[in-house]
Amino acid sequence: MKINSAEFVKSSAELKECPAPTKNEFAFIGRSNVGKSSLINMLMQRKDLAKTSGRPGKTQLINHFEINEDWYLVDLPGYGYAKTSKKNRAIFQEMITNYIKKRDNLINTFVLIDCRHDPQKIDLEFMEWCGIEGIPFSIVFTKIDKLGSSSLMKQIAQYKKKLLLQWEALPPVFMTSAEGKSGREEVLRYIDEVNKSITTEMYRKL
Ligand code: GTP
Ligand code: MG
Repeated sequence: MKINSAEFVKSSAELKECPAPTKNEFAFIGRSNVGKSSLINMLMQRKDLAKTSGRPGKTQLINHFEINEDWYLVDLPGYGYAKTSKKNRAIFQEMITNYIKKRDNLINTFVLIDCRHDPQKIDLEFMEWCGIEGIPFSIVFTKIDKLGSSSLMKQIAQYKKKLLLQWEALPPVFMTSAEGKSGREEVLRYIDEVNKSITTEMYRKL
C-alpha cells in the first residue's frame, strides 16, 4: 500500500471524544516503551508523526491519525506502566478497555511485543481478554534489530509455543524494526487486505 497522506486528527481522553466511527480503524497497543509510536512513524515514513520517548509513559491519550483520507490508525498509551500512581493506572486501564470494547469501527488491534522478552503475564492476559471479548488482534514483535537472526527465530518460536498452550490457532504474526525499517511492507499489506474486505456497513456485525 502506498501512503499518500498521514494526518494527526486528535488526541482523546475517552471513547466519546474520538472521531466519528466512519472509517476502518487499526490500533497499536502493548507495554510502555515497546515501540508503538516508533512503529507508527516507521510505517508512515514520518519522523515525528507520533511522539516517541526513551522514557516509558510518553503516550497518554488515544491518538487518531487519518491515513490516505481512508482509514484511521491509533496510537494508544502503554499498558502496565509502573511509574505512575495506582489511580492513574486504573484510569488508563479503563480508558483503553472501554475504547477497545466499544469502538465500532476498530477492525484490528496490533499487540506489540518486544522480541527480546520472554512471554510476560500482562501481554498474555491482554490477548486472553481480547479472545474472551471477541476482539480481533495480530501480534507484532518489535525491535528485531536488537537480536541476531538465530536468537530471534528461537525467541519467536518459543513465544508461539507458549501461545499455543492457550490458543488453538495463532493470529497473524509480524516482525518489525523501526530502527532497521523492517516489516513495513508486511504490516501495510495486511492492513490493505483487511481494508478491502471490510466496509462500514459491516461494523456493527463484526
Ligand atoms: P509509550 O508511548 O511510553 O507507551 O511507548 P511506545 O511503545 O510508544 O515506545 P516508543 O515508540 O516511544 O519507543 C520507546 C523507545 O524504544 C525509544 O527510545 C525508541 O527509540 C526505542 N525503539 C522503538 N522501536 C525500536 C526499534 O525497532 N529498534 C530499536 N533499537 N529501538 C526502538
Ligand atoms: Mg508511545
